Amino acid sequence: MCGIVGYIGDGDTVTILLESLRRLEYRGYDSAGMAIIDDEGNARIFKIEGEISELESIIPGISSRVGIGHTRWATHGRPTTENAHPHCSGNICVVHNGIIENYQELKDELISEGFVFISDTDTEVLAHLINKYDTGDLRLAVSTALGHVRGSYAIGVLSNEHPDELIAARKDSPLIIGLGKDENFIASDIPAVLKYTNRILYIDNLELISVKQDSVRVFDMEGNPVEKKEHIIEWDLEAAEKAGYPHFMLKEIHEQTRSIHETMTGRLHELEGDVNFEELGLNRNEIRQFQRIEIIACGTSYNAGLLGKYLFEWLAGIHTDVDTGSEFRYSSPVLDPSTLVIAISQSGETADTLAAVHEATSYGCRTLAITNVVGSTIFRDASHTIYTRAGPEIGVAATKSFTSQLVVLYLLAIHFARARSRMDADRARMLLSELRKIPGHVSRILEDAGTIQECASMFVKAENYFFIGRNINYPVALEGALKLKEISYIHAEGYAAGELKHGPLALISKDVPVVAIAPHGHTYDKILSNIKEVTARDASVIAIADCDDCEIRKFADIVIPIPKTDEVLTPLLSSVVVQLLAYYTALELDCSIDKPRNLAKSVTVE
Ligand code: M6R
Repeated sequence: MCGIVGYIGDGDTVTILLESLRRLEYRGYDSAGMAIIDDEGNARIFKIEGEISELESIIPGISSRVGIGHTRWATHGRPTTENAHPHCSGNICVVHNGIIENYQELKDELISEGFVFISDTDTEVLAHLINKYDTGDLRLAVSTALGHVRGSYAIGVLSNEHPDELIAARKDSPLIIGLGKDENFIASDIPAVLKYTNRILYIDNLELISVKQDSVRVFDMEGNPVEKKEHIIEWDLEAAEKAGYPHFMLKEIHEQTRSIHETMTGRLHELEGDVNFEELGLNRNEIRQFQRIEIIACGTSYNAGLLGKYLFEWLAGIHTDVDTGSEFRYSSPVLDPSTLVIAISQSGETADTLAAVHEATSYGCRTLAITNVVGSTIFRDASHTIYTRAGPEIGVAATKSFTSQLVVLYLLAIHFARARSRMDADRARMLLSELRKIPGHVSRILEDAGTIQECASMFVKAENYFFIGRNINYPVALEGALKLKEISYIHAEGYAAGELKHGPLALISKDVPVVAIAPHGHTYDKILSNIKEVTARDASVIAIADCDDCEIRKFADIVIPIPKTDEVLTPLLSSVVVQLLAYYTALELDCSIDKPRNLAKSVTVE
C-alpha cells in the first residue's frame, strides 16, 4: 500500500504536494519522493529513504505549477532511495500504488530493447513502457502501456513535454480527483486534498483521467469519455483519515476485502495448480528436505501460526510445532538444519520473536520471516522473507494483518504440499479458486454486520466469555478471545472445545456467553456435542456457522452465518466475525478501541 498525489495549478506545488503526502502517511512511510516541472520546464526529481519530513528537508525553494508525489510502503524492492517513486524514463515520471503482476516478463522485454533499469521495483516498467509508446500523445501512451500490464494500479504520470497536463489511471487501487478553482488534484485518498477542496470525483476501475489546471476529463481505456458525478465531502480532516469510520480498527476490518486480495496478488497460479512465491528463495528440492517446521510468534501472530501448524500437517504432511517467542527463547529447543523455522511478526520488530530467530539461526536452521513491514529487523535477520502486504495497520488490535498472515500460510502450505507431492493439481486449483472468492465473502459478512452488533449489545454486561473451536477453528477461538479482552477488557478464554470437560466446564453458567466456531467440516459433529454440553449448563451460545446450516439453529441462541467455502478456508471468514464482535462490544462499552490500555502496537522490549 502506498499513497500517490498530484497537483496542477497556480498554488505552491511543492508545499501542496508535501502537505497532501503527509495526509497519506497512514498508507506507508518508508520512503518518499516527488517530481515537479519547474518554471523553466525542467523536471526536478527528489527522492529519499525516509519520511515526508526528510523529503521536505532536501527540496530547495522551487516555483512550479505541476507535480506528482509518493509515499511508499515497499512491496517490490527494499525501501531505498533508488526504489522510492517517482520512477522515470526519458521525459516520463510515474508514481504508482499497486502491484504489476507481470513486471518480470515486461522488464526482460524492455531490457532486451535497450531500456536501463535502476531500481528493483515493479513500477519502473510502467515508466519505460509509457516512454516506449510516447509519440506525442501522453494519454494514448499511458493507455497503450497499461494495455500490456496485469495487476493493480493507481498511477500519476508527468511529462516535461506536457507541462500543462497530468495523467492518472486506476485499476483495483484507490484513486480520487480533487476539483479546485483553477487547480486540480489527484490522490489515493480524500484526506490528501481535503485541506484544499471538498469537491471529489471517485475514479472507477479502468478509467483514465486527463487533469489540467482548468479541466478534468475522464475516459475509459478505449478513449471514450466517461461522465462522472461530483461528490461534496462533509467530513473534517480527522474523520477523513479514518475514511469516515469512527475508529482505525473498524476501517482496517473493512479493508480486509482489499488486503486479502493484495496478499494473493500475483501469487496464485491456478493453471499450474501452484503458488508463486518468487521471494521465497527455496526450490522444490529444498522444500522436500525439511523434516519439520517450527513456527514462532507472539499474540495474534501466534494464533496465525497455530493455524499454520494445522495447515502444514493437514495439507503438506509435515510435522509442525508452534511456540511463543517469549517461551522459545528460554526453552531447550531440539533443532537442526532439517527444521525450517518460520517466524511470524506483523511489525517485524517484536523482541521475543527476533530473539527466537537468532536462537534458531545459531542451530544452523533456515529461518523464514512472514512480516508486514518491508525492511523491518526481522527481514534483515531471517534467511528468507515473505511479505503479507496488508498495508500499515494503525489500530493496536491486529485485524487485517492477521488475515493476511493466514493467507500467506495457506499459500505456503499449498506450495509445500505440491512440492512434497501431497496434493494434486486439481485440489490445489480448487483451493486457489476458492481463495480468490474470499474477499467477496468477507464483503458479505461486513454488509451483514448488524447481527453481530446486536449480539455484542445483548451480551455487553457479561463479565466472562468463552470462545470454543476444534481443529482449524481452535486458533480462531483463541484470536476471538484475545481480540475481545484486548479492546473491551472483558475476560475471555479461547479453548479447544474438547478440553472444556477437563476443567473449564466448571465456569460455565447462564451468565457466560460461549462463542462456538462451528462451520461444517470433519469436526462439526464434535463441536455440536460441545455446544450441547454448555447449553445443558444454561450458557448462551453464539454459533458462527455456514449460512445453509439449519441444524445448528436448534442448539444455538444466536447464529452468525458465514458464506460457504471449502472447510479448510473457513477460518478466514470466522476471524472477521470475531473481530467485529470484539469491536462492537468495545464500542458499547466506550473503550479506547484504537489504543487499548497498557498495550503498544509494536513490542520491542522483552
Ligand atoms: O508485530 P507482531 O506481530 O510480532 O506482534 C505480536 C503481538 O504483539 C501482536 O500480534 C498483538 O498480540 C496484537 N496487536 C493483538 O491484537
